[in-house]
Amino acid sequence: MTSASQQPTTSDAGIPVESDEHSLTVGPAGPILLQDSYLIEQMAQFNRERIPERQPHAKGSGAFGHFEVTGDVSGYTKAALFQPGTKTDLVIRFSTVAGERGSPDTWRDPRGFAVKFYTSEGNYDMVGNNTPVFFVKDPMKFQHFIRSQKRRADSNLRDHDMQWDFWTLSPESAHQVTWLMGDRGIPRSWRHMNGYTSHTYMWINAQGERFWVKYHFKTDQGIETFTQHEGDQMASADTDYHTRDLFEHIRDGDYPSWTLHVQVMPYGDAVDYRFNPFDLTKVWPHGDYPLIKVGKMTLDRNPTDNHAEIEQAAFQPNNLVPGIGPSPDRMLLARLFSYADAHRYRIGANYQQLPVNAPVVPVNTYSKDGAMAYRKTADPVYAPNSKGGPAADTARYGSPPSWYADGDITRAAYVDHAEDDDWGQAGTLVREVLDDAARDRLVDNVVGHLLNGVTEPVLVRAFEYWSNIDKTIGKRIEQGVRSKAGEKDPKASEQGNPARRSMQGKA
Ligand code: NDP
Ligand code: HEM
Repeated sequence: MTSASQQPTTSDAGIPVESDEHSLTVGPAGPILLQDSYLIEQMAQFNRERIPERQPHAKGSGAFGHFEVTGDVSGYTKAALFQPGTKTDLVIRFSTVAGERGSPDTWRDPRGFAVKFYTSEGNYDMVGNNTPVFFVKDPMKFQHFIRSQKRRADSNLRDHDMQWDFWTLSPESAHQVTWLMGDRGIPRSWRHMNGYTSHTYMWINAQGERFWVKYHFKTDQGIETFTQHEGDQMASADTDYHTRDLFEHIRDGDYPSWTLHVQVMPYGDAVDYRFNPFDLTKVWPHGDYPLIKVGKMTLDRNPTDNHAEIEQAAFQPNNLVPGIGPSPDRMLLARLFSYADAHRYRIGANYQQLPVNAPVVPVNTYSKDGAMAYRKTADPVYAPNSKGGPAADTARYGSPPSWYADGDITRAAYVDHAEDDDWGQAGTLVREVLDDAARDRLVDNVVGHLLNGVTEPVLVRAFEYWSNIDKTIGKRIEQGVRSKAGEKDPKASEQGNPARRSMQGKA
């Protein structure tokens, strides 16, 4: 019986159904009939409810909001969304990197910080993390890095031994690993962390002048973190703690916000800046390039259908609008290809027609057809044409963001700048940013991580790795591991080899 406030259930074709509870059978004890189309529709749709999870960043959630420009950066970029006073709607998705869709929010891991701005010149996606740097600087190593963080082939378990094997053989990871093992490696919530482009991008102003930029979204809630113990406790008490925290605060009208700042480097400085400004394992010290305020991002609306609006949200670093371009950072250049490819596999060829991914401006594209095409194509279907189809406005948009590049085709590392090395900025973080208590927690976190299944010779390489970052920290970590391994298993201490323990999947 349908109450006055209820709509009658229908099939997906809108036809009223006879029952929500009973299948069609030959008598109460008889077989189910193939002609029960509604039952079959329910079962078939259920079997197709899941789409592939994102390869990295599978666990996450998000919200809607807006960005409002309060500063004036029009001297650096002509991008419409960054002009003074402009307000732009957006969707954001936060995530962890290594875990699967059901994994705990509070594992030690970087967090994704992906924003899609629905601008008046098309969608602009800023697909960043909560850290200003990354583990590797060449895209050839990205896939291997992610595999080392995921699961072994044999046991299907995560394995700290393979994580440290990869890291210690990849010294460029030192800065990001130091950051990760410190307090910020487990944010208290997504509301209490910053977001960074990490990469350097190009900005171009109305006069065609070029600048290099890095974005810093600083949380207005203040930085708050969990200790390893708190993170572990929360992982078992509430797997979805960060998801819940964001949803409930927005639901209750306590809207989180972030203030966007940029560092701007004049185009010509890049040549002989003391660090390679395109190396994703390095920051630009604030003393060299101070933060310039741009505006404020506020999140004020929850999704009503997580699958349609967040799981099917498709962020891609190649969505760059006029006034914003890429840089020679090879990681970024590879990402310009990778994401749209992932979306075509994960969601389908026409993923950009879904409401969450569709721009708010007219789409005048020659792309057509494909599975689940929703937007109608109009003639003419080719260009050039004399039939009134869209034509590229090259007078206005004809100059792509560019930089001078020349040389023989090669496979080679970046050319070092004066102060480029893998350990320096990690050492600065340990010695000049962390205080004594934060250094103690860093040592505890690394010792705990290494004791969780890391074996020789990886272990010895890990001690060397930390000594290269900072001699004192390296010594403290080695002593901590040796003495705690000895407490657990005196024989292992003699051999310098802590007992290998089974993994709990902790990052
Ligand atoms: P500054 O003293 O100007 O900045 C230090 C930065 O460190 C601040 O951005 C601060 O963020 C951040 N920070 C504080 N505690 C931690 C922590 N536990 N883990 C990670 N970051 C933390 O120094 P410099 O700009 O000269 O940079 C020095 C070092 O600081 C760098 O080598 C780098 O490791 C780290 N850093 C630098 C950033 C940059 O873009 N320059 C950004 C983030 C870290 P907040 O202001 O939010 O407190
Ligand atoms: C997700 C590739 C580096 C941030 C993804 C996905 C792929 C990918 C394939 C899944 C996309 C999807 O299915 O929707 C790569 C490659 C990289 C790289 C090839 C390097 C060569 C980075 C870096 C950052 C980053 C350096 C941050 C600065 C993210 C975020 C997501 C993501 C935030 C999740 C986006 C979302 O919420 O949907 N990456 N990635 N990635 N990546 Fe990367």
